[in-house]
Amino acid sequence: MTILVTGARGHVGRAVLDALFAAGQDVRAASRDATTLDVGVPAVSADLEDAATLDAALDGVSAVFLYTRPQGIEGFVKAAEAAGVRHVVQLSSSATLEPKSAQSHLARLHRAVEEALEAAPFASTVLNPGAFATNVLGWREDIAAGVVRTAYPDARIGAIHEQDIGDVAARILTDGSHGGEALPLTGPEPISFREQAEVLADVLGKRLRVEELTPEQEAARMAARGWPPEVAPEVLRTWERTTREPSVVTDVVREVTGRAPRSFRQWVEENRGAFG
Ligand SMILES: NC(=O)c1ccc[n+]([C@@H]2O[C@H](COP(=O)([O-])OP(=O)(O)OC[C@H]3O[C@@H](n4cnc5c(N)ncnc54)[C@H](OP(=O)(O)O)[C@@H]3O)[C@@H](O)[C@H]2O)c1
Repeated sequence: MTILVTGARGHVGRAVLDALFAAGQDVRAASRDATTLDVGVPAVSADLEDAATLDAALDGVSAVFLYTRPQGIEGFVKAAEAAGVRHVVQLSSSATLEPKSAQSHLARLHRAVEEALEAAPFASTVLNPGAFATNVLGWREDIAAGVVRTAYPDARIGAIHEQDIGDVAARILTDGSHGGEALPLTGPEPISFREQAEVLADVLGKRLRVEELTPEQEAARMAARGWPPEVAPEVLRTWERTTREPSVVTDVVREVTGRAPRSFRQWVEENRGAFG
């Protein structure tokens, strides 16, 4: 039976695809526009917000890696049930595990998909990763200019490598384990934005200074990058909290895959080409 990977062009989707391919699984890659997808496995066009595109994508599929798209989730569940899908692994977010998540925009949209899958007739597993190491790609212009600008530079987060999420998802999609579970995933250690800048400077061989932004300046940058206005205060609240409280890291990557999560340094070493 085939495993369908939605968002196969995305950072995590691609990592899931690579892990499944390496394990010799029968994989199908999905994108809203598969004509431009070049991933070396059969590819199909499917838009999670357009149910009419899903039947062909799900034909003969036993398990699905699913990006969170609340708008289309009812249509997805119906199409997956009709296709005989047995297990769905959702890429959700640690936002749904945060204190006050009921009031959080980010948490609500991920929760809507978690709840729809909980009520579905097939098994599902929710992945709740914290902040991604890939987020530092948003610093590329700053790094080129030699100054990393961020609010709360001493916020400490357990930055996770996308391949660790991919390896966890691939394992579960392959063996059908962890049905009905929500798995909080993090990198190996809390690392502050300031420490991330130090690692980047060291690996890239560049002098990098850190300049602290006010929360208002950071919110304006997030808005300029197209983030919904409700999200900035929620993210900034979490960053502020992790300057005071140690941010929680988990051992779930090791428990599921049998190997330790990759460090932030490893991510930078593998991705140095992204910084010019
Ligand atoms: N960044 C973080 O720190 C963080 C932390 C926790 C959770 N998350 C979660 O991770 C997700 C981002 O993952 P990522 O970094 O891998 O994202 P990414 O690289 O931006 O890729 C997003 C993928 O979603 C697909 N997509 C978007 N709309 C779609 C639709 N309507 N139907 C089907 N596919 C659609 C895109 O596929 P095509 O363009 O090819 O169609 C693309 O491959 C967020 O949405 C959030 O839920 C992020």
